[in-house]
Amino acid sequence: MIIREMNEADLDEIDELEKQLFSSPWPKDEYVYELNSNPFSNLRVIEEDGKIIAYCDWWIIYEQAQIATIGVVKEYRNKGYAQMMIDEIVRDSTEKGCDFLSLEVRVSNIPAISLYEKNGFIKANIRKNYYEDNHEDAYLMIRPLGGMTNDETAGN
Ligand SMILES: CC(C)(COP(=O)(O)OP(=O)(O)OC[C@H]1O[C@@H](n2cnc3c(N)ncnc32)[C@H](O)[C@@H]1OP(=O)(O)O)[C@@H](O)C(=O)NCCC(=O)NCCS
Repeated sequence: MIIREMNEADLDEIDELEKQLFSSPWPKDEYVYELNSNPFSNLRVIEEDGKIIAYCDWWIIYEQAQIATIGVVKEYRNKGYAQMMIDEIVRDSTEKGCDFLSLEVRVSNIPAISLYEKNGFIKANIRKNYYEDNHEDAYLMIRPLGGMTNDETAGN
């Protein structure tokens, strides 16, 4: 098992997985954009025996980090792969100086909400009718990163 950067050669496989994993899959073009043109994106895949079993994308926009997508192939769930990707996202965004990490998640997505709550995210708000396919609401979830130093708290 390895975790590595996503590349152009992965995109057909990702396109297939996207349709299996998500009710509103991103079109392949979206990944082409994320990979080649979005200066804020960070993409990783987890590969086992030459097959992609999990992948994620997060954006780092100055001091704000946002999880754009995270998914694990059904047969490989509950084995800690999503946790491994969250650890990588938290490590990378903390290292790059972000002060918080946010994401949106369907209010019905109990596995994902549990994953995020276990990792210190709290429900910060509800975005009504967020998803186009079924008009489901999203929770906006946020978790602080790093911590306040004396410098940051001193200047009021
Ligand atoms: C959500 C998802 C990414 C979790 O992946 P996973 O690899 O199975 O998760 P992990 O094995 O790393 O589990 C880590 C924690 O997540 C939570 N969790 C994962 N699956 C869960 C489930 N079915 N029910 C409740 N909690 C769950 C638990 O807190 C778990 O910790 P624990 O094992 O100590 O209880 C996966 O179910 C998935 O790909 N779903 C479809 C795509 C999706 O909804 N992505 C999120 C969009 S916001």
